[in-house]
Amino acid sequence: MDKLSILPNGPLEGRIPISGAKNSALKLMAASLLCEQPLVLTSMPNLADTRFMAKLLQNLGVVVEWPTGEALCRMDAANITSTIAPYDLVRKMRATFNVLGPLLARVGHATVSLPGGCAIGARPVDLHLKAFEAMGADIVIEEGYVKAAALRGLKGAHINFPFVSVGATEHAMLAAVLADGETTLENAACEPEIGDLAICLNSCGAKITGYGTPTIHIQGVARLSGTRHDVIADRIEAGTFAIAAAATGGNVFLDGARAEDLGALIDALRKAGVTVEVEPKGLRIKRNGGGLVAVDIDTRPHPGFPTDLQAQFMALMTIAEGTSTIRENIFENRFMHAPELSRLGANIIVRGNEAIVKGVPKLKGAPVMATDLRASVSLVIAALVAEGETTVNRIYHLDRGFERLEEKLGRCGAKITRQGDSA
Ligand code: UD1
Repeated sequence: MDKLSILPNGPLEGRIPISGAKNSALKLMAASLLCEQPLVLTSMPNLADTRFMAKLLQNLGVVVEWPTGEALCRMDAANITSTIAPYDLVRKMRATFNVLGPLLARVGHATVSLPGGCAIGARPVDLHLKAFEAMGADIVIEEGYVKAAALRGLKGAHINFPFVSVGATEHAMLAAVLADGETTLENAACEPEIGDLAICLNSCGAKITGYGTPTIHIQGVARLSGTRHDVIADRIEAGTFAIAAAATGGNVFLDGARAEDLGALIDALRKAGVTVEVEPKGLRIKRNGGGLVAVDIDTRPHPGFPTDLQAQFMALMTIAEGTSTIRENIFENRFMHAPELSRLGANIIVRGNEAIVKGVPKLKGAPVMATDLRASVSLVIAALVAEGETTVNRIYHLDRGFERLEEKLGRCGAKITRQGDSA
């Protein structure tokens, strides 16, 4: 199994191009199932997760043209040949569950395996299913599969989510675009990826308004055409590199990063003593000489501090002066990086959904293990500033969500080498 060997090499300096957002790309790919003409996505991130989604779409009859290494993916769902998403293609990645809504809306029925459990918590799909039921779908769960049918089509509905869910908001939107009548989603998620999905769907002929706010209106249409859409820049990748630059005390330009999507992180970095300059084409992160100070964070739905940057920010706080409190409010079990960071010499106490991080003057390299996608990259950040060698094991998690990580960081001076079967 591949692992990364990381040696400290001083401040990161240079320019990092930001890829298209994985979390957006996956839902946009699911949206291709709604379109009678080809959907062409540019700035497609080449990742294990997006390639996996392409495989599932092919299984459903979508003709996918996405040459290896290319950032342009063409998906033609003119002929959907299957409405079954089997366990093997859904258990590995939760976002594949998002084919259910589009299949239901376009074909009238679908059978999709329930997504498996996941290291960061139970992550149920009850809100997704309730939204489809509100739109008139009959749903049964049998032998681990969700069997959904709306043979006379979905009907517009008024859906008030009991709490904010990114996945349920996107999934309900994906189904409602082809429903008969108007759907209103209340307490909808406001994440930038939801806006990206709405813009793409509207460009295919959908009628969605209010995205980016907690109330989204969707006027159903009979059919969607195709379009060409550029995937939004990955705010989590950008935020991760911003934190890496801050940790090493470097000067890095994040080409394509969108300040408007990263407000909570930018505030926290500035409070910690990092200079963040908003430039027309991206963000510049600098910390030349000055120390880092402890800052408390609380993860919240957008525009709050993103849970997907919590682990990376914790890594930064391990070397800040003072004590910071990090509260995780979105997922129940998302501190698995804490014991691994402690192996590098960090001083972290976890109590329930709170981690108390007391900054230490130095971290020291050690073998550590990646437990989930964002946790793994927090270990990479810590390793960049730890004395001596760190090896990060089980990095398949990283490959799920970070495009050319070693290359991007390596160009800014990081000493990272991949070892293992595919090295
Ligand atoms: C998405 C992102 C993930 C990010 C998360 C929160 C993708 C592929 N993944 O995940 O990276 O960390 O948003 O920003 O886009 N919940 C329920 N029932 C449901 C749905 C969700 O109880 O039907 C709970 C979840 O267990 C979690 C919370 O709601 O505790 C928020 O989850 P949600 O916003 O749905 O996250 P995802 O869409 O799964």
